[in-house]
Amino acid sequence: MINIVLYKPDIPQNTAAIVRLSACLNLKIHIIEPCGFNLDDSRFKRVAMDYVKLSRMARYPDFETFVKKNSKSRMVLITTKSKKFFHHFKFKKHDFLLFGRESAGVPNEIREKIKDRLKVPLSGKARSLNVAMTVAIVAAEALKQNNFFK
Ligand SMILES: C[S@@+](CC[C@H](N)C(=O)[O-])C[C@H]1O[C@@H](n2cnc3c(N)ncnc32)[C@H](O)[C@@H]1O
Repeated sequence: MINIVLYKPDIPQNTAAIVRLSACLNLKIHIIEPCGFNLDDSRFKRVAMDYVKLSRMARYPDFETFVKKNSKSRMVLITTKSKKFFHHFKFKKHDFLLFGRESAGVPNEIREKIKDRLKVPLSGKARSLNVAMTVAIVAAEALKQNNFFK
């Protein structure tokens, strides 16, 4: 199973859309807290609907706890700060794809520790995609490469 990891997400509607995507595409979602909102937030619930119940979700109080619990897994950072394109990368079945927070990505010290860092190429002067859109694009490629789509 492909794993989606959200680093301290800020925007409830984005996280909710990712929870729904994860439930629909059989991805496991890992949320590194604190989030910039409460998971009881009405804006989160309105978008996530009943997909929270259908999703596989793990929550961690901080990044260190997340790393300890998943120390044997391969981490792949999805970031605007890379020169390597996601569609040139060979994803594995149990990869953990880490996405940064909307306001600031991930801290430099986390970025430097992760060897595999990938970006989605953008046109012109565009700076970044919405994080939920990025998850959909990169997860689709990882799923396709590993024959999850029948
Ligand atoms: C709105 S962006 C954060 C922008 C932040 N200023 C930064 O420099 O990381 C939120 C997250 O979406 C993902 N993202 C957005 N656009 C991306 C792109 N073109 N390539 C890779 N990741 C992207 C990354 O995981 C990023 O941390």
